[in-house]
This record gives sequence, structure tokens and C-alpha cells, in this order.
Amino acid sequence: MKHFLKETDFSVFETTEIFSLAENFKKLRNRHTPPALQRQSWALLFFKSSTRTRISFEVGVHELGGNVLYLDENSMQLSRGESVSDTARILSGYLHGLIIRAYEHEIVEEFAREGSIPVINALTDFLHPCQTYSDAFTMAERWSTDTAQLDSLRGRKIAFLGDCAGNMANSWILGAHHFGMELALAGPSEFFPCEAIKSLLHKTDETAGIQFSSNAREAVKDADVVYTDVWVSMGNEGEEAERLKQMSPYAVTRALMNEAKPDALFMHCLPAHPGLEVAGEVLNSPQSVVFDQAENRLHVQKGILAVVAQSRR
Ligand code: CP
Repeated sequence: MKHFLKETDFSVFETTEIFSLAENFKKLRNRHTPPALQRQSWALLFFKSSTRTRISFEVGVHELGGNVLYLDENSMQLSRGESVSDTARILSGYLHGLIIRAYEHEIVEEFAREGSIPVINALTDFLHPCQTYSDAFTMAERWSTDTAQLDSLRGRKIAFLGDCAGNMANSWILGAHHFGMELALAGPSEFFPCEAIKSLLHKTDETAGIQFSSNAREAVKDADVVYTDVWVSMGNEGEEAERLKQMSPYAVTRALMNEAKPDALFMHCLPAHPGLEVAGEVLNSPQSVVFDQAENRLHVQKGILAVVAQSRR
């Protein structure tokens, strides 16, 4: 049985299969309903708000022939102290799979450990692997006629600007290694990657090709992708004023985009705050692929669901 909690949980072979399925799902949408989740019930258990992830997963499970339930923490006994362990065991008796969005990554890991059904990480404070897979697919669409082949990604450079200690930066640290890409992170030194993500890399000596600095111009030089995320994530609202001040040198402006390759893509997982982490003229420019990223969440997550469901058999 397969869980998808972090980027490296799928092999390169499985990732290729996911991209190949996603490519077909996208091409054949509205013409063919693949029955990958037929007679299955999956639930989304969300401790945080969401637009893209919730809706793309709900639609995705439905389009694969499954039933889908949306569960929020407040309407469950979890909010009144029932343990994660008991909840995981109970839900495993009803459901075929669980898609979880939580603050603490450890909660998602505990559901995977204590339950007996596949768990998909729909974002934690530590990682957002469904986003990196959809983003990599979006890049492959731009750089190759065969999206399923990961070759077009290998050796490409991503510059990640701003909060280099957040879940998207962490996910790209694992994602860059998984997809064979170079990653240059630039942000205030207070927001450099944490030891937990570095230790995941150090375990297998995977830091080659990943650089951290405080120099935004240096990071974007010759980049194929300029990527940023919100400066104040869910849960960081109390630190807003200080964060905005610290992050402001890392805003993606037109001048900064001009330091990257002329055909560089601008990417953002959304929601965006034009005028803060990215200038409106960059967000709405032809280089911006943010709406492709958002749409591809649906197709790629259907691929992930199909591969995870297959692993149960
Ligand atoms: N990018 C992303 O995960 O969006 P939502 O928070 O709207 O799901």
C-alpha cells in the first residue's frame, strides 16, 4: 500500500506513470471516465482552508468513479479530543483512502501509520507534494511534447524567492532532487531552510544542485523558472508586519525577471498577493503559468489517486 506524504515517496518510474496518466486524463476529460476509484469512498480531512486543493481533489475523485466526503476537523470528535490513532482506525473501516490537509506534518504521518488505508498529503506546514508534482508537470508541458518523460526537467534551474523555510521551499528542496533539477533559494537569512528538511537530504547526500543565499539577483541568474509563494502563510498571521518587511527585497519584479532566462516561466502556487511577493505585471504576463499550474492540480492528482489506488490491490 502506498502513501504520498512527500515528493520522494514515488519512484521516478511511478512519477512517469502519474504524468502519463495525467496527460491522458487532461486530453480525454469529458470523453472518458476512467474507473480507477469505482466502488471506492475517499475523504478529504481538512484542518485548514483551501480553494484549489479541495475542489480539484473532490472533482478528481468523482471523475475517477469514486465517492468523496469532505470532513472538517470541527465537525468531528477529533475537535473534542478523540485521538488521531482511533480516528485513523475508524476511518480505515469505512474509507478506501484519505486526503489530509493539516498544520503539523506529524498528524498526516500518524494517520498513515495508524490507519490501514492510503494517505495523501494535501499540504502541511512542512510540505506540499501535490503542488510540486503539478508544477513539474506544468513545466514538462512547456518544455517537451512528451509530458510523461521527465528528461525535459533534468538540469533545469528553479529560483525560489522569499520564504525559504516554508512548505513550498521545503517541497522544492525534495522536488528538485526528485526531478533532477537545480534549485537556488534566496530569502532573508531568518527564513533559510530548517534542519528537518536538510536532514532528509543529508541522509542520502542529495544537497548537490541546491544553493541557499540572500541574493535574489544571483539566484535568478539563468533560471528557467522563477518561483515564489505567499510571505505570510496560514498560521503565520501574527507575524505579518515583520515578515513583509523582511521579505520585501525578494519580490518578483519585472527587473528581477529580466535577470532570468528570456523565456523563463513565472510560477506561484496561489493564492497570490500582487504588489507583495510578485508584481501584478509579472503575475499577469505571458511568462506567468499560474493558471496552468492550478488547472493541472486536477489532472496530476487524478494520476496520483490512480497510482495510489492501484497499490492497494
Ligand atoms: N495552492 C494551494 O494549495 O491552494 P489552496 O490553498 O487554495 O488549496
